[in-house]
Amino acid sequence: MKLELRGITKRFGALVANDHIDLVVEPGEIHCLLGENGAGKSTLMNVLYGLYRAEEGEILLDDVPQHFTGPGDAMAAGIGMVHQHFMLIPVFTVAENVMLGHEKTNFGGRLNLTAARQQVREISSRFGFDIDPDALIEDLPVGVQQRVEIIKALSRDAQVLVFDEPTAVLTPQETDELMVIMRQLKAAGTSIVFITHKLREVREVADRITVIRLGKVVGEASPSATNTELASLMVGRPVELTVHKDPKIAGEAALVISHLSVIDHRGQLVVNDVSFEVKAGEILAIAGVQGNGQTELTEAIMGLQPRVTGSIVLDGIELRRESTRKVLDSGVGFVPEDRGEDGLIAGFTIAENLMLDRADGAPFVKAGALQLGSLAEFAEHKIVEFDIRAQGIGTHAGKLSGGNQQKVVLARELSRDLRLFVAAQPTRGLDVGSIEFVHSRIVATRDAGTPVIVVSTELDEVVALADRIAVMYRGEIVGIVPGTTPRDVLGLMMAGELPDSAEAAA
Ligand SMILES: Nc1ncnc2c1ncn2[C@@H]1O[C@H](COP(=O)(O)OP(=O)(O)OP(=O)(O)O)[C@@H](O)[C@H]1O
Ligand SMILES: [Mg+2]
Repeated sequence: MKLELRGITKRFGALVANDHIDLVVEPGEIHCLLGENGAGKSTLMNVLYGLYRAEEGEILLDDVPQHFTGPGDAMAAGIGMVHQHFMLIPVFTVAENVMLGHEKTNFGGRLNLTAARQQVREISSRFGFDIDPDALIEDLPVGVQQRVEIIKALSRDAQVLVFDEPTAVLTPQETDELMVIMRQLKAAGTSIVFITHKLREVREVADRITVIRLGKVVGEASPSATNTELASLMVGRPVELTVHKDPKIAGEAALVISHLSVIDHRGQLVVNDVSFEVKAGEILAIAGVQGNGQTELTEAIMGLQPRVTGSIVLDGIELRRESTRKVLDSGVGFVPEDRGEDGLIAGFTIAENLMLDRADGAPFVKAGALQLGSLAEFAEHKIVEFDIRAQGIGTHAGKLSGGNQQKVVLARELSRDLRLFVAAQPTRGLDVGSIEFVHSRIVATRDAGTPVIVVSTELDEVVALADRIAVMYRGEIVGIVPGTTPRDVLGLMMAGELPDSAEAAA
């Protein structure tokens, strides 16, 4: 089906999120939308999906104007969407989620569910998915949950499929598999809109590329364009894609972790007897495929995991039995993996989120009174410094674009006096320009003498930042190797093998 957006304009108060946007997606085309954080990509897709009403403009499907009053209309017209934040219900099964809101066969739950199960099997076999219709969503890995979203859309005969940053949460292998799925869909004539910040993916699958900046279409790019060309078109200035980093001048071991083990809420041993040190002025990157214990390791350091054994000593002080409050107060900065869940309060303003863990003392609270003036000044400054795109410091965090939410968390955590900085997936969802900035801030934190732990599933990020790299596999550290270790060696380690050469180097 051919999709055409004509002159779409969407405002939020004074902010023009989409400014007369034109876009044509031909049948069987993979059309990439590129643009900075806050450029207006998700907004445009939410207009298409009937979630927002545009003030101006038209949506045409096969040249017929459409009038959507909600997602139900958009779905009925053949539009499906895999959202930036999944919309599945965790405690329901795959089939129940696929069935939800379905118009078809609505004669009581039982019949409905049987039909939904059958549909899950049918679509799964078409795409070679291995999905049990009766599995609970919360038990499935993220990559599989995403396939359920795809099945859900296809079960409604979607002919236009929108993927809003689907790869931000996927492992490299899951990403490759998604690319295969997109090509299959394309071959079947589905029109695809694909949003991503990863230029490699764009060059791999895009038939056409449209670049949006500050709510406007600024041009089309060729899929054969180089990373540098795409990046500068997006950001409107040249972008350095490599991090400048002087050799480290590391000091004493500041963080010493010994024989740390974590048992998770299901009773599984997810971190198994891990020991390592991080020196002052050093970046230790923790690499590995998602789900090998990295998350639980950082949560253990932050006092967020209840069942931990071993010890976590920072500057000579044992943190293991301390509360998260105490850990933060002792000067540990933390960027959690899931910003929506653990990093921000959606109903609070940017300014409030920037002072979250400092609400009980100077400079924002004096003699029990909130110092609104100094908070406003601080927040204004951070918005400029971290390039947070928003109407103002009073904007609710939940209204920010995905990448800008991440910037608020980074701005807060990097603006304190730190004795340790722990960042999990610090640049997830950020555009190339913002990644450049955040990486330089992380290096500056190191250069100021702070020990830094960066957990990342992105090898590019690991290689760019790390002085040393610890690779985790099934809850254990396979090895700790120099930051200059070649990628193929890291790849092997991520699969649980420690090549002799790596062992010697460590
Ligand atoms: N519901 C809303 N209310 C107010 N402002 C909003 C709302 N949704 C989005 N915005 C604003 O509209 C602008 C565009 O946001 P959008 O989410 O479309 O960006 P994006 O291109 O998807 O960015 P990202 O790459 O970070 O996901 C941002 O400035 C955002 O703060
Ligand atoms: Mg978005």
